[in-house]
Amino acid sequence: MPNTTPADGCYWTRTAPHHPFPTHTSPIEVDVAIVGGGIVGVIAARLLKDRGQRVAVVEACGVGRGVTGRSTAKVTAQHALVLSRIEDRHGQDAARCYAEANRAGVALIAELVGRHGIACAFEPAPAVVYATSADGAERIRAEAAAARRAGLAMELSEDAGLPYSVTSALRLDGQFQFHPVHFVTGLAATIPGDGSHVFEQTRVVSWDEQGIETAQGRISAPRVIMATHLPLGQVGQFHAHNAPHMHAIIAASVAPERAPHVMAISADEPKRSVRGHVAADGAAMLIATGPTFKHGDAEEEAKAFADLEKFAVEHFGAGEPIYRWTNEDYTPRDGLPYVGWAGGAGDSPLVATGFDAWGISNGAAAATILADLATDRDNPWAGLFDASRHSAKGLGTMAAEGLEVAKDLVAGHLDSHSGKAGEIDPGGAAIVEIDGRATGIYRDPAGRAHAVSAVCTHMGCLLGWNPVDRSWDCSCHGSRFAIDGAVLHGPAIEPLAPVRIEQEEPA
Ligand SMILES: Cc1cc2nc3c(=O)[nH]c(=O)nc-3n(C[C@H](O)[C@H](O)[C@H](O)COP(=O)(O)OP(=O)(O)OC[C@H]3O[C@@H](n4cnc5c(N)ncnc54)[C@H](O)[C@@H]3O)c2cc1C
Ligand code: FES
Repeated sequence: MPNTTPADGCYWTRTAPHHPFPTHTSPIEVDVAIVGGGIVGVIAARLLKDRGQRVAVVEACGVGRGVTGRSTAKVTAQHALVLSRIEDRHGQDAARCYAEANRAGVALIAELVGRHGIACAFEPAPAVVYATSADGAERIRAEAAAARRAGLAMELSEDAGLPYSVTSALRLDGQFQFHPVHFVTGLAATIPGDGSHVFEQTRVVSWDEQGIETAQGRISAPRVIMATHLPLGQVGQFHAHNAPHMHAIIAASVAPERAPHVMAISADEPKRSVRGHVAADGAAMLIATGPTFKHGDAEEEAKAFADLEKFAVEHFGAGEPIYRWTNEDYTPRDGLPYVGWAGGAGDSPLVATGFDAWGISNGAAAATILADLATDRDNPWAGLFDASRHSAKGLGTMAAEGLEVAKDLVAGHLDSHSGKAGEIDPGGAAIVEIDGRATGIYRDPAGRAHAVSAVCTHMGCLLGWNPVDRSWDCSCHGSRFAIDGAVLHGPAIEPLAPVRIEQEEPA
């Protein structure tokens, strides 16, 4: 396996000082327990607290540092060509409802930033979807018509406001961009007090109808919101209805006159998504992401970064990226996020997932739905996003099929990945067969080998190496693990088992 440059990290998480929220230490009781401190969990907590509810947000890692804190952080109701797709599949009313929910999501974030005075580089920026082909221009025209019917005032033009020519562009004004970690941690800081809490470095390991369990004890609550990006473990079998996708992201310096002043996304392949940002020292930055690649495929990942970096140099005169990272989201099977009760109303967790890389505005809308359902209120968008819209029977069958696939994958991949620990160079990693078991070994720059089981603890798929983030990633449903086996992203809950190996000298 190629030995690549160690991670430079994510721009947003690296430029946000860690806000010190405590860990959970003893049993408590609240009205709503919220698992996950991303944009969904923290906005839901704020809305519930505003209604007099006592909440506990419980975050396994750092608040705001999950998928939200690793996104491109565009706060917009324009989601590339989503409205025409929803209209085709679900009809005009569905597209209108989706547009309304997301417009309200953007407005809610703007209102929270203003009301709580959150310093998060929140600034207006138009959103633009553009095409560079005749075909793409046709699809943009269809999206413009769908947006008009859905009540979003977008403007067609031949100028995307980018430093390269396009065949068509569709622009939505009145949108925003921000620093996602500053926003989520700033909002989370308003929550503790009057019986409410925010905990981090606290993993939720189980849940039931009366609350959740962390390693440190119980948090009792009549309502549980699972805002973990994908619901954990087997909850609602959402892993069977959402396809994970991974992206390369870069942050690079650009000359101020070449920095984008729009938040742009391409309608054509290869997918390009860009925005500008002014760093704390005043430097102009380009934040860019590109097409999807398969989790744990180091070669595809290297190609994705090389392709994105070439694009950034050619079109924006960008320098060598200062930050490189990867991030994932899930495409829902029927094109709509799943938000609401995972199963039976009132006695299953409330969940939100399937944002398909548009979970900032969708996340704020989802938080509103979850807060409404948790407090027995009606919500105008809850029907469209209903999380229990797939029957439990169908889900069970698919989950069983998934298990078979997982077993096949482990067996099939072992042959092609078998190697020797001593052949791994410092900074490199490989899957090695030890005593018949797939073992993931990463050799750090000092030459020390870190060995863990390479079998995902969710449903048993074989993991692959992510060289930029130095993590073991699962292509089946998107779980990710650190080099010591700790869970970085679910649906897995259990860490990878450590494997004891002799420390060999690299060849
Ligand atoms: C490349 C890329 C770019 C994107 N850019 C944009 C964009 O510009 N605009 C946009 O609208 N959307 C964007 N998105 C999508 C958006 O970022 C996500 O959909 C959204 O942030 C998801 O929010 P969340 O709160 O559901 O998840 P997260 O932010 O991941 O929060 C979930 C939290 O749950 C925690 N957790 C997990 N398991 C446990 C446990 N057992 N116990 C306790 N805590 C747990 C995690 O640590 C995490 O912090 C992008 C996505 C990608 C992949
Ligand atoms: S098997 Fe489901 S995430 Fe790995």
